[in-house]
Amino acid sequence: MAEIEFADGKFTVDRPEARGEVYLQGAHVTRWVPAAQRPVIFLSPNSAFAPGRAIRGGIPVVFPWFGPHPSDPQAPQHGYARTRPWLFAGAAGGALQFELAAEPFRLRYEVAFGATLALTLTVENRSSQEAGCEAALHSYFAVSDVAAVAVEGLAGCTYLDKPDGMRRKLQAGDVTFAGETDRVYLDTPPQLAIRDPGWRRRIAIDKTGAAATIVWNPWRDKAAAMADLGAEAWRGMVCVETGNVADNAVRLAAGASHTMTTAIAVAAL
Ligand code: BG6
Repeated sequence: MAEIEFADGKFTVDRPEARGEVYLQGAHVTRWVPAAQRPVIFLSPNSAFAPGRAIRGGIPVVFPWFGPHPSDPQAPQHGYARTRPWLFAGAAGGALQFELAAEPFRLRYEVAFGATLALTLTVENRSSQEAGCEAALHSYFAVSDVAAVAVEGLAGCTYLDKPDGMRRKLQAGDVTFAGETDRVYLDTPPQLAIRDPGWRRRIAIDKTGAAATIVWNPWRDKAAAMADLGAEAWRGMVCVETGNVADNAVRLAAGASHTMTTAIAVAAL
């Protein structure tokens, strides 16, 4: 088999270091399995795979707004980048490049499947005026049991607590999960991790050019109401998303670009 193949709307990468998958729709990563590891990325067993529908799980690219559109209730949640077909711009080694025209912006995205999963998203403002945007790599991680894992690195950060009317709160210690959790952490440090004692591993998330981190698990009731997630699978996932949203949204001068990167790696606990 060739290292990279394309069939049924998705690229499949099979290398000694890792296996991976990325759909052309949304440039949506759905799989990354480093050698001798369990899958690191969660993909819902109930996800729809249909044109214009967001895949549930993987790494949706959220752009140019995060959450509901600020003024248009008809506009899709989390923007349109995750449901549009992107342009395949080339591949080298285990890295694939994609582009999306999203006027007035152009997005360039590189996904490199290796012992580390390296993601690089560049936003260019192609207009002659300043323009603002939000962006996030909405990573769903596979975990043994969300109630047993901890997110390290956010102690002392301010967060917006969505289930509590977006109240601003201060994080004390690691983030643990005992109910619906939906938070936008602001001005977060470059190195975070998910500690998973059940699977005896730590997932390290290193980022640059991205000030915000979103942490989400819908918990039992909300998950059961989501047809593409369901009553069972939510326990095996946690989203720790790298982005520039809310207070950390980006403003780009005419012609300017901004790059954010995320590198994900796994180590034994
Ligand atoms: C998270 C948001 O990033 O994405 C949550 O903070 C949201 O509020 C979740 O529920 C999933 O969004 P969607 O549009 O994929 O169902």
